[in-house]
Amino acid sequence: MCGIVGYIGENPSKEFIIDGLKKLEYRGYDSAGIMLYTDKAYLKKAKGKIYNLENKLSEKKLNNAKIGIGHTRWATHGIPSFSNSHPHKSNSGDLYIVHNGIIENYESIKEILIKKGYKFYSDTDTEVLINLIEEVKKVNKVKLGKALKIALNSVIGAFAIAVFDIKNPHEIVVAKLGSPLAIGIENKNFYIGSDPSPFLNFTKRCLYLNDNEMAILSMKKGLILRNFITDSVINQKVENLKFEIEQVEKGGYKHFMLKEIFEQPKNIIDAIRGRILDDYKIKFSSIESHIDKFKNANRLIFISCGTSWHASLLGEYYFEELARIPAGVEYASEFRYRNPIINENDVIIPVSQSGETADTLAAIKLAKQFNPFLFGICNVVGSSISRETDSGVYIHAGPEIGVASTKAFTCQSLIMLMLSLDIGYRLGKVNDEKYKQIITEIKKLSRYAKKVLEEFDNIKKIAKKYKNAKNFLYLGRGYNFPIALEGALKLKEISYIHAEGYPAAEMKHGPIALIDKNMPVVVIATKKGSYHKIVSNVMEIKARGGKVIAVVTKGDTEIKKIADDIIEIPDVEELVAPIIANIPLQLLSYYIADFKKCEIDQPRNLAKSVTVE
Ligand code: AGP
Ligand code: GLU
Repeated sequence: MCGIVGYIGENPSKEFIIDGLKKLEYRGYDSAGIMLYTDKAYLKKAKGKIYNLENKLSEKKLNNAKIGIGHTRWATHGIPSFSNSHPHKSNSGDLYIVHNGIIENYESIKEILIKKGYKFYSDTDTEVLINLIEEVKKVNKVKLGKALKIALNSVIGAFAIAVFDIKNPHEIVVAKLGSPLAIGIENKNFYIGSDPSPFLNFTKRCLYLNDNEMAILSMKKGLILRNFITDSVINQKVENLKFEIEQVEKGGYKHFMLKEIFEQPKNIIDAIRGRILDDYKIKFSSIESHIDKFKNANRLIFISCGTSWHASLLGEYYFEELARIPAGVEYASEFRYRNPIINENDVIIPVSQSGETADTLAAIKLAKQFNPFLFGICNVVGSSISRETDSGVYIHAGPEIGVASTKAFTCQSLIMLMLSLDIGYRLGKVNDEKYKQIITEIKKLSRYAKKVLEEFDNIKKIAKKYKNAKNFLYLGRGYNFPIALEGALKLKEISYIHAEGYPAAEMKHGPIALIDKNMPVVVIATKKGSYHKIVSNVMEIKARGGKVIAVVTKGDTEIKKIADDIIEIPDVEELVAPIIANIPLQLLSYYIADFKKCEIDQPRNLAKSVTVE
């Protein structure tokens, strides 16, 4: 996972790299390290978060360095420790590397290098890679760029790397396969980041490296971009980034997660903007131009992980209801490794906030062998998944920094609803009345979200009451079942309380055995659909002494009488309700975790962008 930052140019680089690493800390925070070059290379590392590293950077000379590479780690090979921290250096001490990804064949390369006399001081695959580059450089008597090209052709795995050679201190060489890498360009200054957030304050001109591409960032020759497989020079497609730095800062909130929860009314507007026309029509140009693919679709297969999987499940329900196309949801990691049956008329829909999830990317790669139509739903513009698919839509939730996904889920769910409604209408499966009714509700969604957020004080009180519970159960039926799963995941991720999401009716097939006075059960019991069935489920819980926290429609009287705690949401259309019902569950998890003083934005063992399989 890891975050990479680098700089080469005319200005001091230390602060830029440290601030940049802080912006990328969401990618991992097992350890941090930096190499700064002035009269010589200064290598500093620390276990844990960036501030531990900062404490080691007081030496005055470091302030003059105009070249540097930095890293915040999410360990894959070797425990989080000082010696496993990046940057790693080669045996000669000339080459330095930061790496995001995994070198799968590192063991066999390591054996060969050991036979040649190389020594290893860490357990990482990264240290093997830098020594392989050194060996290639030595044997072939070539410069760093050429050595990198040769070495990368013999490694298997995923990487985004930045490499520096003290023998040629006028350039940094970067390369990418699988993991993301962005380069910011401003005159003679080159900025490197796993995403553009580190350099947004300095430049909006950004070049995203594609797979198999490497770039030499040279103070003398400028930027040279090549394909390291074909060795051909590539034309640079520099983009002008549209987002502002405020979008990646906390803006007065205690945590990014809280900011992102409260931002949702605005995110909803952004996701809808330009897609609902004044005459109550939905317009996705990517659907318009590919409607035949959906019309002739054998089935839709969503592939995703975690929260995106939950949004995909809601997508399955929506597409089957509104577009009447058979749909299924797959865990990307399972799909990839179980010989799935895919045919040309299937539409594969990868769903991902980051657009960089390795499991999802691997599933796309597998699917491509069967030539289906690939339609991606991503948040991060220009991300790998958005580039690896034939077409797709962006959810426009803006940068999501909190490791626990909130606003992306809301926007993914909303986009699922809009897409299925659009396709269903175009295919004649949704009548005018229903179409208009749902669009009217979608147009009000932002206001509904605002209303739910006004409940925060009530939710905070409920959180305080249950903060010491050891287990939680989340129940929902129909469209609210994916919400139960997502509610439970949120609580697990940030408060470390064990929680399970279940279809409400499944409770009696097992989990009911767990219910007693210590077991809070969150029931999403909005009106319509199977409301009366869920009332019975609540009765069953109460009969066994369980504590019920119910999310209900405003004006509900039945559940109000029996539940222990109530969170009201506005009375909205049945298909729209789950999108709104999820928001109080985000707040509930947030406040419980905050009362427990958990590290909300960076929960233990997790990272925002899971770029390893
Ligand atoms: C969400 O809160 C999680 N941290 C995680 O489950 C996430 O949704 C999953 O890793 C998928 O990420 P993606 O959407 O970026 O592909
Ligand atoms: N494999 C490298 C390590 O363990 C990088 C890990 C990553 O990118 O997640 O240090």
